[in-house]
Amino acid sequence: MSAPDWIAIAPESALVDGGAGIRFDLRLKLPRGPEPATGFVVRHRGRVFGWLNQCRHVPVELDWVPGQFFDSAGLNLLCSVHGAAYAPDSGICISGPCARDRLQPVTVEIRDGIIGWIPRGSLLPPTTTTTSHD
Ligand code: FES
Repeated sequence: MSAPDWIAIAPESALVDGGAGIRFDLRLKLPRGPEPATGFVVRHRGRVFGWLNQCRHVPVELDWVPGQFFDSAGLNLLCSVHGAAYAPDSGICISGPCARDRLQPVTVEIRDGIIGWIPRGSLLPPTTTTTSHD
């Protein structure tokens, strides 16, 4: 069986501008082999952006509370560990210990009102597909 070229995440209406993000499972290809990881999508200024859920300072997930990626103003993505702030559209770290580094992008495509992601490069489909956005 071939790998899927697009994996559904959630209906487009599930994302509110500057609101909670939606996590999804993937696998990250590493030299020692693929490992389970998560990605997430958020809406910012009307557009949907997808990122690997991994801080560039230390490779941990950004959200302390699942799906809570934005700061209180709903403008920047925050790492819950040491407070690095990332621009939600470019993924560039704008403050914190990883300044000017960039989150790893996930290619997102909306098909018939459903947000999905496209596995490519080091981002592989999960062995089973789940999302969480409660
Ligand atoms: S682990 Fe994210 S800022 Fe340190």
